[in-house]
Amino acid sequence: MSESGKNNSHPGKGLNRRSFLKGMGTGIVGSATLSQGLLSAAPQGPTPSSKSQDITSATVTMTINGKRQSLEVEPRESLAHVLRERLQLTGTKIVCDRGECGACTVILNGRTVYSCMMLALEAEGARITTIEGLAVGEKLHPIQEAFVKHDALMCGYCTPGFELALKGLLDQNPNPNLQEIKRGLSGNICRCGTYPHIFNAALELAGGKGGK
Ligand code: FES
Ligand code: FES
Repeated sequence: MSESGKNNSHPGKGLNRRSFLKGMGTGIVGSATLSQGLLSAAPQGPTPSSKSQDITSATVTMTINGKRQSLEVEPRESLAHVLRERLQLTGTKIVCDRGECGACTVILNGRTVYSCMMLALEAEGARITTIEGLAVGEKLHPIQEAFVKHDALMCGYCTPGFELALKGLLDQNPNPNLQEIKRGLSGNICRCGTYPHIFNAALELAGGKGGK
């Protein structure tokens, strides 16, 4: 979309792309280019709380782990920050905070994304699965059970991101081979070096045993 085009406006919401960007730090603007598609694909723009040009907060509505939630966020806040600090979904880890490690991986509208690399406002209307959404009560998800069985974690910091990345892979390809597993998890880093265990867990799940 062009900066000057009327298509940049969110009809009836009073927030256009230019005023939205003005409210953010330029560093975040640069890092958020990853998610331009998500921004344009959002069904509705967030609702600004300020009538001035400088937007200080806005309401964003997301469905997180099946629960629809609306909350006020600042334009500069990343999705990872909002998940952790506003919603206490601390299973989402922030390690590098710059799109390099995958610790903050969540599933958004069926795609795995680095939640540190997108603004919470960009998630308007999105369906999000965090690590807290995998288990059902005390019953672990098959991916979590496989990680435990294969001792696929040490410090555990990378584990939520790996498990969600693996879920994203298995949702797309229920029967990946080892090369496909390595490629599918290549956006995630484990500093403890548990890769062989993670790959063994993933291989066990191949063949449709990775659940939903
Ligand atoms: S914390 Fe987001 S990619 Fe590292
Ligand atoms: S288990 Fe420690 S970073 Fe992966």
